[in-house]
Amino acid sequence: MLDQETIRDIRKDFPALNNTRNGMPPIYFDNACTTLTPEPVIKSMDEYYMDFPGCGGRRSRHWFADETYMRIEGKPEKEIKGSRSIFKEFINAGNESEIIFTQNATHGINIVALGFNFRSGDIVLLTDLEHNSNLLPWQRLRRKSLIQLKFTESDENGCFELDKYKSMLEQDKVRLVSMAYTFNLTGYTIPAKEIIRLAHQHGARVLLDAAQTAPYQSIDVQDLDVDFLVFSVHKMCGPRGVGILYGKRELLGSNSSEEEAEDVIEPALLGGGSVGDSTYDSYYLLDPPERFETGIQNYPGQIAAGEAVKYIQRIGLNHIYTYVNSLNQFLTDELLHHFGHTGWFTLFGPKDPSMRGGILAFDIKRPNAPGIAEDLSERSNIMIRDGGFCVHSFINKQFGEGWMLPSPPSEHRMIYRISLYFYNTIEECEIFLEELTNVFRERCYI
Ligand SMILES: Cc1ncc(COP(=O)(O)O)c(C=O)c1O
Repeated sequence: MLDQETIRDIRKDFPALNNTRNGMPPIYFDNACTTLTPEPVIKSMDEYYMDFPGCGGRRSRHWFADETYMRIEGKPEKEIKGSRSIFKEFINAGNESEIIFTQNATHGINIVALGFNFRSGDIVLLTDLEHNSNLLPWQRLRRKSLIQLKFTESDENGCFELDKYKSMLEQDKVRLVSMAYTFNLTGYTIPAKEIIRLAHQHGARVLLDAAQTAPYQSIDVQDLDVDFLVFSVHKMCGPRGVGILYGKRELLGSNSSEEEAEDVIEPALLGGGSVGDSTYDSYYLLDPPERFETGIQNYPGQIAAGEAVKYIQRIGLNHIYTYVNSLNQFLTDELLHHFGHTGWFTLFGPKDPSMRGGILAFDIKRPNAPGIAEDLSERSNIMIRDGGFCVHSFINKQFGEGWMLPSPPSEHRMIYRISLYFYNTIEECEIFLEELTNVFRERCYI
């Protein structure tokens, strides 16, 4: 477990935490959206631009290009590990070619959605709590009448119902299961291994959206036996604009294989960098990962992404999870103790914080309920998130479409989310609770 002294030291690595406004430091509780960036990660990006801003891949073979290439692809003869290999180990992939750099989780999901070899009428199965990034790409395919979409329903606590899922697989021939590994609204992590096992038993492939899992929990893609998995590095102390798409080797295609697996994905985008040769009439693609990384890439981001992994690994994902969850436990207990009985304060997802990682979202149904996030930011630099959290579909089902539109005060409601990371402290949680109580008092809720 991380102690307070270690946290104090860790906080020194984050320049944004040294900032002040109106004489007060920031209290950053919006980590599920994006995390703060530590100095080693920022430095590695600066280093690229300052010292060797060349292109990567194998386009150019000169000093700057070699330096860039080495930091991403490594140099085994000098025992230098590149970012790709760092990510391979991070999720225990079998091969570096299974690690594709993307812009973010959204990009990775779209690559699979656009590249998967669907047959008309194929069924894609999602949960009812998907982020728009794992909903819209599939909705587009449904609009084009290529696929049918089905949704599992969470139970009243927001947990996954394996029995119902099993019946759905038995009833319908599902081609692809695409689910958030951890929900961004509730912080609940689905029983992925069993979900994948059952999907495979019924001949379906599985894509996991690990955007909210990778920052907190170790992932072993081989143990999970997952077919595709995506996440965003900016949610784990990395630079913005870098994500990972993992795909099983046999599903990413190759030039050499005689017989391709049925579910090989085609690159959604084509162009320079992904191709070995072309004529006016034809082209042949490079092997993965290059065939999926077309155009000049975010090289400083990819280099810094490796640094981000090294940074959080130095702290240890198990320590991160335990610590963050202990803060969540404290906040949950306090909030439920003070407001749980009021009837206007409702937690989303499981009541038990140990099932919600670092995420705590609640609904306030009181006149003047919107605007509390702005108030907290204005008064004391406390940054939490409000709104629909890109899970509009689920919230619209719960509250009715248009729930966020202007309404009579008696109908006001707003959802707020606190999401924690390892640089947050118990003191910050105490200040948040005090300020939230003050806001409630000013609004005459208590
Ligand atoms: C569960 C989940 N999936 C996907 C995304 C999209 O991530 P990005 O915007 O980095 O692509 C998010 C972002 O919050 C998320 O929480």
